[in-house]
Amino acid sequence: MAGSRPSPKKSSAERDCARVCGLAFVLLAFAGGAKAQEPERAQPSAALRPYTVVADAIPESLTGAKGDPQRGRSIVVNRQVGLCLLCHSGPFPDEKFQGTLAPDLQGAGSRGTEGQLRLRIVDASRLKADTIMPPYYRADGLVRVAPAFQGKPILTAEQIEDVVAYLATLRDDSAIPTSDQKR
Ligand code: HEC
Repeated sequence: MAGSRPSPKKSSAERDCARVCGLAFVLLAFAGGAKAQEPERAQPSAALRPYTVVADAIPESLTGAKGDPQRGRSIVVNRQVGLCLLCHSGPFPDEKFQGTLAPDLQGAGSRGTEGQLRLRIVDASRLKADTIMPPYYRADGLVRVAPAFQGKPILTAEQIEDVVAYLATLRDDSAIPTSDQKR
C-alpha cells in the first residue's frame, strides 16, 4: 500500500545511537568541558531524589548508602537494563559484541572518584552537552520516551549506586589475569 510502510523494528535507543554515534567518533575526547562550578541543585522531579553537583562530581550517594558491586555488575552487562555494552567494552570475557564507541570500562575506578563516576552515570551531558551517553538518572528534557518510562529515570537511585560501586572496583591494578583475556 502506498504510504504505509512497516515501522522499523529497532528500539529507539538503537535509533538514537545510530543517529548520533557518528558524532561520537569526532567527539570522544572526554570530560574536557568539565568546569569547576558552584554547587547546584538538580531539577527536582517527583521520581528523583535531589543531589548536589560539586565541580564534575556528585560526591554523595543518591541513597545515602553504598551500592552493591555484584548487583552493579549485572546491571552493566544486562542488555535490557543498563545497555552499557552497546557502547562500552569492559572486563567481561563472556559477553559477546561489546561496544567500541566509548572508553573501555576497565580502569574506570582508577580514572575517576566515586563522585565523578556517579555524575557520569546520572547525567553525562552535564559534562559534555552532546555526549551520546544516556543520562541514567534524569526524567526531564528527554525526547521520545515510551509511555511506561515517562517521568522515570532509566535506573533507580539504588541501581545507580550499585553501578557506581561496581565501577569503583574496576581499577587498573585489578586487571583481569591473562587467562581471561579477550579472544
Ligand atoms: C550510547 C552509548 C553509551 C552508553 C549506552 C553508555 N555509555 Fe558510558 N560513555 C559513552 C561515551 C561516548 C563516553 C565518553 C564520554 C563522551 O564522549 O561522552 C562514556 C563515558 C563513560 C564513563 C567515563 C569514562 C571512563 O570509563 O573513564 C563511564 C564510567 C561510563 N561511561 C559508564 C557507563 C555505564 C556504567 C553505562 C551503562 C549504565 C554506560 N556508560 C552507558 C557512551 C555510552
